Amino acid sequence: MKKRATLDTERFSISALSRSELIDNVHGVQDIKLFNLYKERILKWKNIQYKYLKIRIKLLKLSQIQRAGSIGINRIKDTIIILLTSTSVIKGDMTLGQMLAVQYILGQLNGPIRDFVNYIQSTQDTKLSIERLGDYTDKIYKEPFLNNREFQSSRNIVESLVFENVTISKNENTILENININIPYGTKVGIVGESGSGKTTIINTIMNYEDITHGGVYFGKSKIDSYSHEERYSNFSAVLHDTYIFSDTIKYNITLTNKIDFKRLNKILNICLLDDIVNELPYKLKTKIGKGNSSLSQGQKQRIIIARALYKNFNYLFLDEFTNALDNITRKLIVKNIYEYCKNKTIISIAHNIKDLDYVDYIFCIKKGKIIEKGTPKELFKKGSYFSKLYTFEI
Ligand SMILES: Nc1ncnc2c1ncn2[C@@H]1O[C@H](COP(=O)(O)OP(=O)(O)O)[C@@H](O)[C@H]1O
Ligand SMILES: [Mg+2]
Repeated sequence: MKKRATLDTERFSISALSRSELIDNVHGVQDIKLFNLYKERILKWKNIQYKYLKIRIKLLKLSQIQRAGSIGINRIKDTIIILLTSTSVIKGDMTLGQMLAVQYILGQLNGPIRDFVNYIQSTQDTKLSIERLGDYTDKIYKEPFLNNREFQSSRNIVESLVFENVTISKNENTILENININIPYGTKVGIVGESGSGKTTIINTIMNYEDITHGGVYFGKSKIDSYSHEERYSNFSAVLHDTYIFSDTIKYNITLTNKIDFKRLNKILNICLLDDIVNELPYKLKTKIGKGNSSLSQGQKQRIIIARALYKNFNYLFLDEFTNALDNITRKLIVKNIYEYCKNKTIISIAHNIKDLDYVDYIFCIKKGKIIEKGTPKELFKKGSYFSKLYTFEI
């Protein structure tokens, strides 16, 4: 069983690798062409297939051995029966008819024995599959399925967001160090800093993708993990780097539901300057987008993702470099519209473009995981500040 388990796990991970390789090759075809990667990719693919084949052969050998075992048992059993019954017939204890009857009856055992061995093999396979499925669900659902809190109606969270001495380390690297932030409800905050300084990690910590090494994150006085995932998410909305566009209509991609509040949808289309774009499309809101459908530009897709974030009910909005595909004129207008729409909500916006910060009340500058400056935009624009250097290309 142990050997079978190891082989089966290996087979599973190689087959997963092979599939993700296939997906990479199909989706990355443009880069494969551009960077002339044909040979390497084919070689890699062949290697994976070769390893997969080797494991399949090993597994086949193992099951053949198990099957050979069952056949062997049957044959030995048959020989013993023939020996015993025929000696009885020779001695006169049994008639020829009785011998044939006994042989026939005992011969019927062959089927059940074979079935029993097959049964053991399938039980082993099923057990391995269930264990693997368990690993997967454990990874996705950190909280148990039947958490009582999940069945309560969601609480509306309108509290200040507090980081108290938060440190996050990964593999002995300190990503955030001793972060203290207090964001009263309804405040608009900007987070700035060079790439890799820890900005995205701050948002991920709030959304609880990251494990905190020291310190705590609070809504008012309660730790954020005293709220269930569902409660937290029903109060959050976000435009993140890797938001996914589903292969579906524009309408679905914005609302993510089939019960649509059209008044709300029209308002959001207006905020994101999407109404003209949608109206010019032949199928309007029913136009299909997503993988394989290229009816929208990058900037237009980004606006769909912003619209999705705004359509949701939320009290806290997280924006992570959310305008990087937009031109300056569109950016300025959309940022203005969003801040007007979110008057009584908290916004945390990570920005490389100073225009994203037009309406924020307060800014935190992060460098190598530490807050090195904070204040209102006016205060931070002092000559010589790190913030002013970041935005005047002096760094
Ligand atoms: N899951 C992780 N494991 C290890 N290091 C990570 C992980 N996530 C981020 N980092 C590291 O933490 C640092 C900060 O990342 P991030 O918050 O994404 O920066 P920013 O958004 O400011 O560009 C980077 O050096 C990055 O390599
Ligand atoms: Mg980032």
